[in-house]
Formats: sequence, C-alpha cells, structure tokens
Amino acid sequence: MDEKYLRVKELLKENGQEQLLNNFEKLDINKKNKLLDEILTINFEQIKKLYMNTKKAVSFNEMKLEPIPYVEKDKLSLEERARYEKIGEDIIRKGQYAVVTMAGGQGTRLGHNGPKGSFDLGLESHKSLFEILSDTLKESFEKYGDYIPWYIMTSEENNQDTIEFFEKHNYFGYEKGKIKFFKQGELPVLNEDGKILLNKDGLINKAADGHGGIFVAMRRNAVIYDMRARGIKWAFIGGVDNVLVKMVDPLLVGLAEDAKVLAAGKSVVKAYPEERVGVFCKKNGKPSVIEYTEISKELAEQRTEDGELQYGESHILCNLFNIEAIDEISKDKLPYHCAHKKIPYMNNNGEVINPETPNAYKFEAFLFDAFESLDDMVIMRVKREEEFAPVKNAEGVDSPETARKLYKEYHNL
Ligand code: UTP
Repeated sequence: MDEKYLRVKELLKENGQEQLLNNFEKLDINKKNKLLDEILTINFEQIKKLYMNTKKAVSFNEMKLEPIPYVEKDKLSLEERARYEKIGEDIIRKGQYAVVTMAGGQGTRLGHNGPKGSFDLGLESHKSLFEILSDTLKESFEKYGDYIPWYIMTSEENNQDTIEFFEKHNYFGYEKGKIKFFKQGELPVLNEDGKILLNKDGLINKAADGHGGIFVAMRRNAVIYDMRARGIKWAFIGGVDNVLVKMVDPLLVGLAEDAKVLAAGKSVVKAYPEERVGVFCKKNGKPSVIEYTEISKELAEQRTEDGELQYGESHILCNLFNIEAIDEISKDKLPYHCAHKKIPYMNNNGEVINPETPNAYKFEAFLFDAFESLDDMVIMRVKREEEFAPVKNAEGVDSPETARKLYKEYHNL
C-alpha cells in the first residue's frame, strides 16, 4: 500500500489534483485502498480536456443548420398508416424488436430518493414509473403473444436499488428472463477550478456519463451481442420518465424500415421558443438535435412563413435504432457536454457540503449526438398529449403533477 500511495501521490502532483488525498488519513483501510485504485484508473488527460471545454462557448457559426423534414402522424392516410404498421408488426412478431429504457440518470431536479423509475407518480394505483412502462409492454404481450426483450440501463449509483425494486415487485408480472439490466459508465465531477471532487464517503465523486453513454455501455456489457443472438434488428431507446412513452410502435418501425434508414425519432411541436427541449435539425446535412442550452435566442424564435417555429420539432428521447447503427455508433465515444450543477461533496476538512447554488461540472454525452453519424433518419411528429408527459421537476412544468394529469386524461382515469 505504501508503494501504491506514493505512486498515487506523485500522479496527483503531476496532474494538479493533490486535494484528493487531503482526507486520506480519516478513511478506513478498505476505503483507502478503494480511493487509491479509483485514482489510478482516472484518465487525467481526459479530465484536463473536459475542464478546458467548460471554458469554451458553443458556436454554430461554421455549421450549416437547416430544419429537418418530418412525417406528421396525423397527416398519414389510413392506407399509408396500415401499410407501415403492417411492416412494423411483422418485425415485432418475428421477434426482431427490443426495447431499451435508459434509467441511469440521477434525477437531480426531481429530487426523489432512489432510482427515478421507482418514483410513485401519485396515481390511485400508486404505480411507479417502472410499472407504468411495464404496463405498455404487457399490452404488447397481449397483442403479439410474446414478451418483448426489455433492456434497462442503470448506473453504478442506482443499479442495485433498481434490481431490488424489480425483485420486490416481482418484475411487475413481466417475464423475468426477458429483462436485462446493464450499467452505464461514469466520470469524475470537477469543481469550478477543475479539481476533482470527493463524494460524501471520501471517495471519487463520479456521475453517470449521460444518456449518450448508452452505446458504449451496450457494447461493453455485451448487450449488442445479446441482441444479435436473439435476432433483434430494431431497438427502441427511450427514457424512464415519460409516462406516455409508446415503446412499441409498429408505425415508427414500419416508417424506418420502409425508408431504409438506420434510425427514427419521434417529435412533438415545441410549445414556445424558450421551452427546455432540444429540437431536431440538420447540421451540415446530417440529422441532429440542438439542445435547449445550446440554441441561440434568434434561432429558437425563427418562424416559417406559416408561423410555425422553424426549429420546432422537439426531441422527446423516443428513438428507434437499427442494430447495425448501434453497433457502429458504439465503437466510439460521443462528445461530452458539460452541465453546471449543485453537487454535494466532501471538502478539504472532511465536511460534507450540500451546495445551494451550482458548484461543480458534470460531463454527459447526449444520445442524440449519435444522429450526426447517420446519413438520414425518419422523424415522426406525434401529438404531445398522446406521447409526451415527462417527469423532470419536483414542481411546476414537467412535474409529477403535470404528468399525472396528462396520464389520467390519456387513459380516461
Ligand atoms: P435527463 O437528462 O432528464 O436527466 O434524463 P435525469 O437524470 O432524469 O434528471 P436530472 O437532469 O438529473 O434532473 C433523460 C433520461 O435519460 C436517462 C434518465 O434516466 C432519463 O430516463 N439518463 C440520463 C441516463 O440513463 N443516464 C444518464 O447519465 C443521464
């Protein structure tokens, strides 16, 4: 251990991160060892680059941005709809379809203690978000006569609690063998001076590496391999927190298959220019999404001749990927974006601080950055009240209250 300690000390000195050993003596032997091992796995070059990027403003000057073409579900004729649905249903019936739920987020805005999927929406039934999702999959079982494979991405932080939650609820009556959990990666959290923070236990303060971490996590955990072994061709990838998400939609599958593209996404019309959603667009001719934190006011407010927002196709994290696309995308990491957040940490005196204002940077890859590696994708505009009721904030917009209302209206409760 002495030797390891000295090696770590030197490494930290070289990289200007000596503070990580400030509380070392207060740790028990297991934690001491764990901390040293954690430090030895840190990619300090990457950390430096990530910190430098926090200082760079995002600019779209060199990029050619254009609105993206989309199909409006409501404008399809009955014949068109039936044709696409038939294509999609055939794929699902042949067992070539899977669902992936990204449940590795920290849900900081909601502030629920535990995995976000275990949050009780406050319905009379007291269903959790996971149970609400499982309901829609059970409906598909009724329709297609088989359980669709369901992959659930968790994080280091919530993996065990998530599995225990499913166990406790007997997998909500879903076939256990059709559910697979896999963990996403994580990255250290930095303070505003680029120093890596310790967590409340005195170990490295890490956070899940964003929903864009899904592709490398699918490769690392052999999910892609598992999908191929099962003959899966298309996977729907969605979040855990949209209580109206349609995870099995033959229409979307049929549209993508018919257009011979490798991905598809659903959009809803952006309600107002400042709405905190990313919007689909084309960047240098490739499909893409601009995040709400990254779009300029001018662009957000641009309108078409008929008064619609020029960049108004909101990305609602309801996407479909062909296994070939997942395989390709998973070979490289997506870029990291930086979020300035309130992150509890242990200070140099060993005290745990719960900041009241944002104090630290966390780095996240965004799933939709994967779109830029595709030549094209299908976008289907759907109705917000039918497919988008997110649970993001504890109160106000996109809160349990608004999602509950939308859920009840949709299900006539
Ligand atoms: P959000 O970006 O809204 O994040 O995730 P969040 O974790 O739910 O909430 P905040 O921002 O901390 O308040 C959208 C979806 O992506 C998943 C979330 O679980 C949610 O289903 N996600 C997000 C991950 O699976 N991993 C991540 O690292 C981030």
